[in-house]
Amino acid sequence: MAVQRPVVVGITGASGHLLARRCVDKLLEYGYPILLVCTGPGARVWREELEEDLSQAVAAWKGRGDVTQYNVNDIGAPIASGGLVTQGMLAAPCSMGTLSGIATGAAGNLLERAADVTIKEYRPLVLVPRETPLSPIHLENMLSLARIGVRIVPPMPAFYLRPKSVDEIVDALVPRVLSALAIAEALDEPVAYQPER
Ligand SMILES: Cc1cc2nc3c(=O)[nH]c(=O)nc-3n(C[C@H](O)[C@H](O)[C@H](O)COP(=O)(O)O)c2cc1C
Repeated sequence: MAVQRPVVVGITGASGHLLARRCVDKLLEYGYPILLVCTGPGARVWREELEEDLSQAVAAWKGRGDVTQYNVNDIGAPIASGGLVTQGMLAAPCSMGTLSGIATGAAGNLLERAADVTIKEYRPLVLVPRETPLSPIHLENMLSLARIGVRIVPPMPAFYLRPKSVDEIVDALVPRVLSALAIAEALDEPVAYQPER
């Protein structure tokens, strides 16, 4: 297997943690080291949505690949510097709060700083924002990021595939998210399922 550059994965307090879990599963399957950072609300919503602590998922991931988790307050962690060369960064799910911090360059915690670094180094940055409805503030923040090349990939179901479960919705989203991150292996993935005719 080719040596892969690490992928920074940021997890926030938005809804959609199943997608984050599947993206990390897939990146590990492809052999990418994971540099993980989770906000306080992110850990809480993970627990509420997936009925497990993030630490349990991290322990399971460590059995399958190279996973390092940093404290969101550790602004001296390696991912706070552009000197650490990465494949890019995925923030999934991305709350409107973190989206705003990234859009303004606030760099108020390690996750926002890592995103700021990813932007300044012109590496792929993919945000999976989840909120509905979206206010003009949310939309303007997304637009200002999209204009500088940040990929905005909201977790919208592919209704035309007639998904029968949340798992099927997530299966269809993972390759799209990872392709936006320029993960070459994701482009070769077969379509997860076809609608019945
Ligand atoms: C169960 C639950 C679901 C939430 N879902 C969302 C969401 O989908 N989008 C969002 O922007 N905020 C959502 N929030 C609110 C965020 O967690 C909150 O704004 C938090 O301050 C975000 O902090 P962070 O960006 O540091 O993770 C949710 C909160 C809870 C408790």
